[in-house]
Amino acid sequence: MSFIIAIDGPAGSGKGTITKRVANKIGFLRLDTGALYRCLTLEVLRNKIDINDIQKMVDIVHNMKIEFVTNEDMNELDYVFLNKEDVTKVIRSNEVNNIISVISSIKEVREAMLHIQRNIAKEKNTIMEGRDIGTVVFPNADLKIYLNADMEERARRRYKENMEKGINTTYEEVLQILKNRDKIDMEREVAPLKKAEDAIEIDSTNMSIEEVVERIVGLYYNRCGSKA
Ligand code: DC
Repeated sequence: MSFIIAIDGPAGSGKGTITKRVANKIGFLRLDTGALYRCLTLEVLRNKIDINDIQKMVDIVHNMKIEFVTNEDMNELDYVFLNKEDVTKVIRSNEVNNIISVISSIKEVREAMLHIQRNIAKEKNTIMEGRDIGTVVFPNADLKIYLNADMEERARRRYKENMEKGINTTYEEVLQILKNRDKIDMEREVAPLKKAEDAIEIDSTNMSIEEVVERIVGLYYNRCGSKA
């Protein structure tokens, strides 16, 4: 049976970078579930799909072909290909960030995503990051982490990332988008972002990436020992 590590937390808490490094250290498959919702949102925008047309969105979820290609640079997220096109950058644009929370709060969309996420982790030890992994997707995950950091710190990190990537935004804009996204993600009816009861919370506000990675790897080895 595969070992599942669930990492949930708000936008900008460092889930992407940390999950990548932990997976690399312990040889796990990793899945950035946010990228799945981002690809769907991009398709909705590009095809000008009415967000009330739920069936169309569910069809997209079932038909989109998403591939992750490793970026050897540990400071970078992996490449994401949607139907063979490299969408790594465009899925993280403000246009996508602005409406993704609305699309990902639709019940039918989440149900369709659920199957995809569960199938991926069926046979391989997997570390999966998102908003509802420990609460809904894998309520029986072997290890659950809730990764958090102060809102201002998260906005600073995102702003810095954007600057480095040449994405032109102000700190205030980043902060506002994060605030809105967190609010919708936490208050939605279906699978809201919240800490699972049995998740271990890590507040990374004053921690380095390496410190967080070491903490999670340590927790994994502890759990492994007790599972064997
Ligand atoms: O992790 P991220 O910032 O790339 O996620 C983008 C959005 O996707 C997030 O604001 C809400 C949605 N999402 C979700 O609803 N459930 C998940 N498991 C992952 C992401």
